[in-house]
Amino acid sequence: MAMKDLRHLFDANARWAEETVAVSPDFFQDLAAIQNPEYLWIGCSDSRVPANQITGLKPGEVFVHRNVANVVVHTDLNCLSVVQYAIEVLRVKHIMVVGHYGCGGVRAALKGSSLGLIDNWLRHIQDVRDRHAGLLDAIPDDEKRYDALCELNVVEQVRNVARTTLVGDAWRRGQSLTLHGWVYGLDNGRLHDLAVTMDADCDIEDVSRAATAAAAARYGAAG
Ligand code: CO
Repeated sequence: MAMKDLRHLFDANARWAEETVAVSPDFFQDLAAIQNPEYLWIGCSDSRVPANQITGLKPGEVFVHRNVANVVVHTDLNCLSVVQYAIEVLRVKHIMVVGHYGCGGVRAALKGSSLGLIDNWLRHIQDVRDRHAGLLDAIPDDEKRYDALCELNVVEQVRNVARTTLVGDAWRRGQSLTLHGWVYGLDNGRLHDLAVTMDADCDIEDVSRAATAAAAARYGAAG
């Protein structure tokens, strides 16, 4: 086998396509004709956090954007274009920002490690760290503080999604759209809801504050 051709991936692909058609003969024709997902997943690029597998969703059921440490930056045209397309064309009903414990990006940001160009991207997470310095400093255990920042990053990124013009416009015109913040455990495969759920009727800052306070309570930090 010529490994430079990555033959094994094509073999696996052929098997998967055959097995899928064996179970559902029209699977690919149906999917090719229409994309109609109800969900937009904004997650980390980490290879251990695959959106479809974790949620049992099939191809066609979840629109996905992933970047290092699931960051939503107000001026990131890549992410904003995904959000716009998902809301205005696909008309997804839910957007979930999904972080994970053990996130290398969050760890690097917390420790201030230098990894090259990506340091600039991780500055956004250091902004989250600095915004919640009091809360984080009140957690004596290093690993717990790291877990807490993984959660707080999700809360902040849901807030960032909520504050985009795209979500604001959708809510103003009465489109059904709910935002969620989840965190995933690499060591047990479980998703946890961080209670940062937002819809048109919510106060973004109230929900963010409550979710932050809940995180503080979980880690025994007053904030
Ligand atoms: Co990560």
